[in-house]
Amino acid sequence: MTAPGQSNRTDAESESRTWTVLELLRWTTDHFARRGIETPRLDAECLLAGAMGVDRMRLYIDFDKPASPAERDRFRAFVKRRAEERVPVAQLVGHKEFWSLPLGVTADVLSPRPDTETLVSAALDLLPDREAEGRVLDIGTGSGAVALAIARERPKVRVVATDVSAEALAVAERNARELGMGDRLQFVEGSLFEPFTTEQFDLVVSNPPYVAESERRQLPRELAHEPEVALFGGPDGLAVLRELVAGVAPFLACGAGFAVELAPAQAQIVVRWCGEVGLRDVTLHRDLGNRERVVSARDPRLPASEVS
Ligand SMILES: C[S@@+](CC[C@H](N)C(=O)[O-])C[C@H]1O[C@@H](n2cnc3c(N)ncnc32)[C@H](O)[C@@H]1O
Repeated sequence: MTAPGQSNRTDAESESRTWTVLELLRWTTDHFARRGIETPRLDAECLLAGAMGVDRMRLYIDFDKPASPAERDRFRAFVKRRAEERVPVAQLVGHKEFWSLPLGVTADVLSPRPDTETLVSAALDLLPDREAEGRVLDIGTGSGAVALAIARERPKVRVVATDVSAEALAVAERNARELGMGDRLQFVEGSLFEPFTTEQFDLVVSNPPYVAESERRQLPRELAHEPEVALFGGPDGLAVLRELVAGVAPFLACGAGFAVELAPAQAQIVVRWCGEVGLRDVTLHRDLGNRERVVSARDPRLPASEVS
């Protein structure tokens, strides 16, 4: 029998056979597991939902529904590229949910990761008043994930989102527009603080590239499909983090917050650097897997609102 993910369609009986949602999921989960995909059932569900143009939960209601020939063709192509080329699911279906926001994703941006929700939580802790106005700078915005999550939770702030990649900025801008937040975000192309001179922000946040070049050969195959500029931070992974911490002070308003994502092995070094540049309240945040993934800190001066 020709399986859903195989391109060889010589078996006419199998081609004309009906495949229900549940059958497709079972076959594909097993196929992915045998091919060493880490989350076989989840990937199968996301790809089938993408091929059918529905959300994942709908599949559970429609377990017995037969997929149409067009849906099956789309699904078959997804399954093949996932299993053989290890293309990330988000790139295949063209979107990924982050902080409950549906974000468009292309090969020009890093697919937003659940781990990065820890960065959003730490950033929101630094802006505790939901109704406060303020200016936020998101450096290396990629799909716009962090900028848009903050803008959604703090409806009166304005966010400047930067990236060195014009292609990534186009994706972020489209996401902002589609989520109805285009008027509160500004997109600026440039490296780190280079686009700014005298501007100051109430929060500077970044999920920079922090993978060490030396780890390149041990990385999951999926990462080969994501932009290099989104991943690698020099030989030890710290190149961009180092410049971020060293350069942030002039761009922080009095008492402003600063939060960066990093790899667990980099956490103590970045904590030390934050202290060395005079930031206060330097705090480590752990992700859901209990790994140290975010460092936050504050400008040492009192916020303008607290100066009598
Ligand atoms: C790890 S990705 C993060 C994307 C997104 N913020 C997220 O959390 O999903 C890093 C992003 O930083 C951008 N980038 C790399 N070097 C940069 C630099 N020097 N200045 C600004 N952006 C940079 C990359 O193009 C990429 O979009």
